[in-house]
Amino acid sequence: MIPVCVPLLGEKELEYVTDCLKTNWISSKGKYVEEFEDRFAKYCGCNYGISTTSGTTALHLALASIGVKEGDEVIIPAFTIISTAFAIVYCGAKPVLVDAEPETWNIDVNKIEEKITDKTKAIMPVHIYGHPCDMDPIMKIAKEHDLYVVEDAAEAHGAEYKGKKAGGIGHLGCFSFYANKIITMGEGGIVVTNDEEIAERAKSLKDLCFPKSKRIYLHSDVGYNYRLTNIQAAIGLAQLERIDELAEMRMLIYTTNI
Ligand SMILES: Cc1ncc(COP(=O)(O)O)c(C=O)c1O
Repeated sequence: MIPVCVPLLGEKELEYVTDCLKTNWISSKGKYVEEFEDRFAKYCGCNYGISTTSGTTALHLALASIGVKEGDEVIIPAFTIISTAFAIVYCGAKPVLVDAEPETWNIDVNKIEEKITDKTKAIMPVHIYGHPCDMDPIMKIAKEHDLYVVEDAAEAHGAEYKGKKAGGIGHLGCFSFYANKIITMGEGGIVVTNDEEIAERAKSLKDLCFPKSKRIYLHSDVGYNYRLTNIQAAIGLAQLERIDELAEMRMLIYTTNI
């Protein structure tokens, strides 16, 4: 069997996880969660990072945070993992497929506009296998039609498009930290954005919509438990600290095998 991509874990991962265990900070509160969210968001050129339990839940949280609901349509590429479509279905909305283009297998930007209707709420480009989509035309179309762009950057940590990091170009970007990704924490995900209001909504939704007031069991909306643990974030932070090295290693494997 040839593995797609094996995790590369080292001393730092062990040190940070041990710290969680020794200090009893094993659940979803703790310094590693906050530090990871902050540093990963900054790495993508964003102000806010909202960690989640997986890339799939990050996609769902992103769509829920921008208010995608029953009757809405969201445009996605025909070639992607099912998570992209499921996230839309979880909101009660309809995935609308646009063909992939043959060179990169990413969404064909020339075929997006013909799929836009008055129900369209967002475009979700997927940077397939880490190759960035052609984001300029996507952002232009979105602006013209007043749509959100939610990047599925689950496979694209560190990938760049015209000097900008994938995931940090659209209104929101979503990543996965599953074991075969550029950096991992076993399972996990994150939503990044520069929009403060969306970030606040995402933070609330991922944590069961607990109110900020003292009466903590009065919930403002139907929320989810998409909380990442401090232990996962500890692994993620150690990985993030050497993301360039990990990405370079993969580039080396690619260039020595073509
Ligand atoms: C493009 C894409 N989107 C979403 C996901 C879902 O991420 P996860 O497996 O962490 O739920 C993946 C994961 O493989 C992916 O490759």
